[in-house]
Amino acid sequence: MSGAQAEIWERYAAKYTPRRAVNAAGATTWLNWTQYPDHGPDETVLGDLRGKRVLELGSGAGANLAHLATLGAVCTGIDIAPSRAGLARQAWGHLGRLEFVTADVLGYLTDTNIMFDVVYSIFGAVWFTDPEALFPLVRMRMSHGGVFAFSQSPATAQENETGQIVRQRHLPVHQWIEQLTATGFREIVAETIDAPELGKPGTVLVHARAA
Ligand SMILES: C[S@@+](CC[C@H](N)C(=O)[O-])C[C@H]1O[C@@H](n2cnc3c(N)ncnc32)[C@H](O)[C@@H]1O
Repeated sequence: MSGAQAEIWERYAAKYTPRRAVNAAGATTWLNWTQYPDHGPDETVLGDLRGKRVLELGSGAGANLAHLATLGAVCTGIDIAPSRAGLARQAWGHLGRLEFVTADVLGYLTDTNIMFDVVYSIFGAVWFTDPEALFPLVRMRMSHGGVFAFSQSPATAQENETGQIVRQRHLPVHQWIEQLTATGFREIVAETIDAPELGKPGTVLVHARAA
């Protein structure tokens, strides 16, 4: 794990404000793909979750993963910021069927021997990791036919400074599709979900199956 990267994310974590206890539908756990509350598709993007082995890349405080545990998935959340795993365990550990691990996603995927049915990331590590390095490792740890999904901001023209430690990876949709195809994924769907208000940025949601 890069210590400098972990430090940057730990500083980001210090500014975290907890998610609401209850959403607009009255639920105490839910999965939200977009940056807007009560907006966009739900966990059905991931298919049937009962008994499935699920991995979240960049799980933060764990609220999305906790929801999948309530649906019967066996869940692992990885986050590089050291305080995240403890916080997530404290909030959601009582649900059972879920673990939170402090690790860089590249290191974790290289070292683990667990095979996952579902791998996903919500504005998480996929957004900040070179897909050429990450996607083959994700594919290697996924069972045939498993679902890989991620959401993040749409592509923008951005300048990356030389030596920048954390970089956002914004690919145009066609490049996400090319990368996934080259890595052995099929049934690739890449869409932009409009924001709930005009003039605000939408959300890119990509999902595919391990071929
Ligand atoms: C913008 S936050 C989103 C957190 C969470 N997915 C959510 O929706 O609330 C990005 C998260 O990804 C984690 N992260 C970034 N790069 C990572 C990496 N290489 N390995 C593991 N976690 C990483 C950060 O620590 C942070 O918690």
